[in-house]
Amino acid sequence: MSAPSSAIQSTLVENRVFPPSEETMQGARISGMPAYEALCAEAAQDFEGYWARLARENLIWDKPFTRTLDESNAPFYRWFDDGELNASANCLDRHIGTPTENKTAIIFEADDGSVTKVTYKELLERVSQFANGLKAHGIVKGDRVLIYMPMTIEGVIAMQACARIGATHSVVFGGFSAKAVHERILDVGAVAVITANYQMRGGKELPLKAIIDDALSGGDCVNVRNVFVFERSKSPCAMVAGRDKTFTEMMAGQSSECAPEIVGAEHPLFILYTSGSTGKPKGVQHSTAGYLMWAKQTMEWSFDIRDTDVFWCTADIGWITGHTYVAYGPLAAGATQIIFEGIPTYPNAGRFWQMIERHKCSVFYTAPTAIRSLIKAAEADAAVHPDRSDLTSLRILGSVGEPINPEAWMWYYKNIGGERCPVVDTFWQTENGGHVITPLPGATPLVPGSCTLPLPGIIAQVVDETGAEMPNGDGGILVIKRPWPSMIRTIWGDPERFKKSYFPEELGGTVYLAGDGAVRSADRGYFRITGRIDDVLNVSGHRMGTMEIESALVAKTDLVAEAAVVGRPDDVTGEAICAFVVLKRSRPTGEEAKQIAKELRDWVAKEIGPIAKPKEIRFGDNLPKTRSGKIMRRLLRSIAKGEKITQDISTLENPAILDQLSESN
Ligand code: PRX
Repeated sequence: MSAPSSAIQSTLVENRVFPPSEETMQGARISGMPAYEALCAEAAQDFEGYWARLARENLIWDKPFTRTLDESNAPFYRWFDDGELNASANCLDRHIGTPTENKTAIIFEADDGSVTKVTYKELLERVSQFANGLKAHGIVKGDRVLIYMPMTIEGVIAMQACARIGATHSVVFGGFSAKAVHERILDVGAVAVITANYQMRGGKELPLKAIIDDALSGGDCVNVRNVFVFERSKSPCAMVAGRDKTFTEMMAGQSSECAPEIVGAEHPLFILYTSGSTGKPKGVQHSTAGYLMWAKQTMEWSFDIRDTDVFWCTADIGWITGHTYVAYGPLAAGATQIIFEGIPTYPNAGRFWQMIERHKCSVFYTAPTAIRSLIKAAEADAAVHPDRSDLTSLRILGSVGEPINPEAWMWYYKNIGGERCPVVDTFWQTENGGHVITPLPGATPLVPGSCTLPLPGIIAQVVDETGAEMPNGDGGILVIKRPWPSMIRTIWGDPERFKKSYFPEELGGTVYLAGDGAVRSADRGYFRITGRIDDVLNVSGHRMGTMEIESALVAKTDLVAEAAVVGRPDDVTGEAICAFVVLKRSRPTGEEAKQIAKELRDWVAKEIGPIAKPKEIRFGDNLPKTRSGKIMRRLLRSIAKGEKITQDISTLENPAILDQLSESN
């Protein structure tokens, strides 16, 4: 838990403040700061009573809970644990018999621009039929099902159908490699895989099922009995007799009614893998009730979602944002949402803005990386500038996944929001389940680059390494002092790692350590996230462990002797991956270095996925090490940034290596 000083220091002072307009305040669920403060006061006075009220108001319980929070086995907190419910019923069945049943639940825009819509009623029927298909193949409550799907209505159906029968899903982002999928199948103990034959992205047809075949080819995934294949494309794909079934075959003859399996509040709804500071990804386990309650509540608070809104979260269902704000939150809240299959730059970089116009999107939620790359594109080509699209349907904008720099924030605010729409910079993590620190559109005065204040009931603080609270203006580490319902429950199969990673003894063992540095502004106490304090990088809003990439590099045993990976700032992707590599042969230069760097990049893509490819690879005869052999990463970080080394290098055994690594490319 050592914080590199660069991550926790702050020099930036941002003086621009944008209070909510009368228009956004009007009718907002939390309207004005006194309303926000009243909720915080309610949580402060009666913490459990506050959360119990929200759980009763937001969820439909088959058996009401009588216990709100069980802290007896902290940090393995349990919420509402004697209550019973079903997550899918809370997203779909709850709307049947209300005016929402015939409302459009999903507007799907395919890569090629074709549009399909489903109502809540139709979605329930399709989820039920799929759930019956799963049951007919022997999948039961408690089983784990791995989902490897493109952004489609069927991806959401697969997740909801698992929830309906009480199976725990584990969605793996379609950009992960066969090897990464294989590891996750084994770790989670999946009994079935749900995939598509192909995915369509940027006008290309990319195989998905073939990757699953590869992942299963070792013969060690003995638990996997079935692979269900959505026929996204008419192109043929190999099918293994007995094991593989198309969606059509799997659902044939199944009823479109399926009674939801009632589960306990703490039943694991899903396990989602994310990167940590060691080589092995962590299976973050989430609950049913606490998670879903917050998914719905934050839709209503952070996005102030209303019946007439058209919501669009651009995140893939393979990430937590796509779980909470695509697959669960919008449905629980009865919203109409857009799901987009493709990429923001196809057929041109005006796609997002054209889609907002086409579907009259009113609440738009995306990542700073997307904004930054679209700023560049708009500056280079007036034809894709957002001013070519009618964006007047928008009323609220959101940002997620990485710090948004004030320049990008201002561009988003002006060019997309027309200076009318609040930008909610939502800070949260896979482990948090839903937003934890975010402005409220109808209440919080906005400051560019700041996620402002914790949601009511989230007791966030900036502390030093002993847990003492830092004064405003001084950087420190971000913690959450009290449990909250949508928090991670454990790391699947590794409770010790859960305790060590998130509830370190140094902080008393019950305080949640976020893994980010933060600073609160001197005037308002607003939070600003200054970046990870561990060995985790954030590349285009994707979380990557440096150790994971290092392990992948050294697994190329014929070539690589040693590797160290660090991040460096990047204008578009936030951070970029920079690898320092020592080969088993002499240090390459010129063309040879370029060719080996390409080989290593392709190797990493195969080991983890294309998202983990280092942007830069530098070769050295050695790495900077202390006399005891420890790699001095802070020096590598400086070299990667192109900085002059000003740090103390007295403990460095081989100072000459610094010049070599600074020069090499
Ligand atoms: O470093 C923080 C950054 O993303 C990390 C969490 O990544 P992940 O679990 O993949 O979830 C991303 C989407 C919820 C955090 O530790 N991060 C996320 N949102 C923000 C952010 N950093 C600054 N500002 C944000 N709004």
